[in-house]
Amino acid sequence: MFSFTKLGFLVLLVPFVFAAPSATLEKRQVDTSQHCGDWDTVTAGPYSLLLNQWGKSGASSGSDCAQVTSLSGTTVAWKTSWNWVGGNGVKSYTNLNLNSGLNKKLSAISSIPSTWKWSQSTSGNIVASVAYDLFTSNTAGGANVNEIMIWLANYNAGPISAVYNSDGTPKPKASNVSLAGHTWNVYFGSNGANNVWSFLPSNGAAITSFSGDLNAFLKYLTSSQGVSSSQYIKTAQGGTEATTGTATLTTSAYSLVIN
Ligand SMILES: *[C@@H]1O[C@H](CO)[C@@H](O)[C@H](O)[C@H]1NC(C)=O
Repeated sequence: MFSFTKLGFLVLLVPFVFAAPSATLEKRQVDTSQHCGDWDTVTAGPYSLLLNQWGKSGASSGSDCAQVTSLSGTTVAWKTSWNWVGGNGVKSYTNLNLNSGLNKKLSAISSIPSTWKWSQSTSGNIVASVAYDLFTSNTAGGANVNEIMIWLANYNAGPISAVYNSDGTPKPKASNVSLAGHTWNVYFGSNGANNVWSFLPSNGAAITSFSGDLNAFLKYLTSSQGVSSSQYIKTAQGGTEATTGTATLTTSAYSLVIN
């Protein structure tokens, strides 16, 4: 049935839409309010802010909130504040998820330029990472096969690894690999369902201003680590894996495009 209520709403809205300059319109269309619920989602341009709190049941208490603070073209600013107590596993991976350019064959990707400028304030010790998370599949939109994590910072956490040194530290499959202007150690293991490739800064220092081509990491995996270039890129995200502690991650500029 046709709704007169809906029609009335549309008629009211139209003059405002035409009167708004485009910059104002763009700002107005982004929800900059804070969200704290598991799987809350905020659409911002080509991205979604995703409050993925998949491990929160492992915490004895805590919360995770996030908001988009601005959007200009494909550059978004956002922040997340979290506090998790108890449990050894990751509680949340609050992230900016890319919604466009996906499901391309790796061999058909020409570049994945990304910029990520961030700072973090913490209270006491934390266990967390700041990292990109990419997934590939055998077919466009198929099940995850490879998870590729590019860590920009490691706070007392560690990558999944199939091999450990005698002192209990994860043993890299390759060391001092130069990609995208930084030097990385490459770890390999399984999360039970997928192969997990993790790139961590070799010197252990946080990279708080990253600007580079993420396709360099995929090309390294296909040329040097036996990953098939017939895989499809399924997911591309950047965010923070939070395990325990209290932190606020503030991203002043984030962009990610698949070409
Ligand atoms: C990696 O580079 C560092 C700094 O140059 C060096 O000390 C270390 O031995 C290298 N590691 C390997 C496994 O080559």
